Amino acid sequence: MRFFEEVLDICNKLINWYRENKRELPWRNTTDPYKIWLSEIILQQTRVQQGLPYYEKFTNQFPTINDLADASEQDVLLLWQGLGYYSRARNMHYTAKMIVDKYNGNFPENHNEILALKGVGEYTAAAIASFAFDKAYPVLDGNVFRFISRLFGIEKPIDTSTGKKEITKALDLIFNTQKPALFNQAIMEFGATHCTPKKPKCDTCIFNMQCEALGSKKVMSIPVKKGKTKILQVNHTYMCFIHDNKTYIEKRTAGIWKNLYQFPLIEEDIKPDGITKIVNRYLKTPSKFKISDVFDSTHILSHRKIQASFFTIHLDTSPIFLKNNIFEIPLADLTTRYPVSILTQNYLKRLNL
Ligand code: ADE
Repeated sequence: MRFFEEVLDICNKLINWYRENKRELPWRNTTDPYKIWLSEIILQQTRVQQGLPYYEKFTNQFPTINDLADASEQDVLLLWQGLGYYSRARNMHYTAKMIVDKYNGNFPENHNEILALKGVGEYTAAAIASFAFDKAYPVLDGNVFRFISRLFGIEKPIDTSTGKKEITKALDLIFNTQKPALFNQAIMEFGATHCTPKKPKCDTCIFNMQCEALGSKKVMSIPVKKGKTKILQVNHTYMCFIHDNKTYIEKRTAGIWKNLYQFPLIEEDIKPDGITKIVNRYLKTPSKFKISDVFDSTHILSHRKIQASFFTIHLDTSPIFLKNNIFEIPLADLTTRYPVSILTQNYLKRLNL
């Protein structure tokens, strides 16, 4: 086959495959840029099945960008609770308010203006520009990286600039500028459901005569990654103080859990026999107390492995804390008003609130 025909063939095969095999997903039945943006932010670090209920919750509670902009950050984080990578929700809320102020609530159509939005990178900008406005920007997400590097047999590491450049060039070759939205959905879907990381369906693959990686038996070793992120191990000891159906929490001010709430935290591994000293280090006036439960849990984030212990500590008297950012709330409000991490949510299940 001549080069041009081969490119056209790949492109047509992808689009035909997509028409027959695509999953029905709600954000594929709309060109509303707000809903597409919302879905892409949710799907940035989340699988489709996990993201779907959040997409439904957000579009029900905030059907337009004005509704999202009018909400409080606490309510947005509460709805996002459980999805992780909370900077996505904070940036999304910030951006919604900015679009209402600067663009009168109309989502910008220009690619550079979309790219300038907080929380929107190259991939998300191309997705919004193509899906909402049918503009010719190819998307390059992890699924596309994998499919292209296998199809073209690219062995340069995908986490280096030379590897990225080579993949971008190959994608540009097969990109369909006439039907950008359809092509982008098709190539992402093919990578996500057919050319998968662990068990790609090479036996039934429409590209099995063309795939360089299959031809050279390298499917499982492509894409190549140079450096894997190091995972740091840390300890978290949380103290859930309880007195008279009240508990005591603080708001995190930095990091991935910024603006979520937590019980007073010590970033050390404290054993039950060491907790007495620690409790009294926290309180201005010593109090008698009883520990009714210790819950140990391991929580894995992309860059951290957290070894956590939650102590349930019943105090005899109302506490006064040395740290002045800790405040009192009714225990029952914990699950309804204050967004917390999944790690804390798992502990809260034990309190039967
Ligand atoms: N992952 C990221 N964006 C997606 C989309 N639009 N459809 C399916 N999966 C996705």
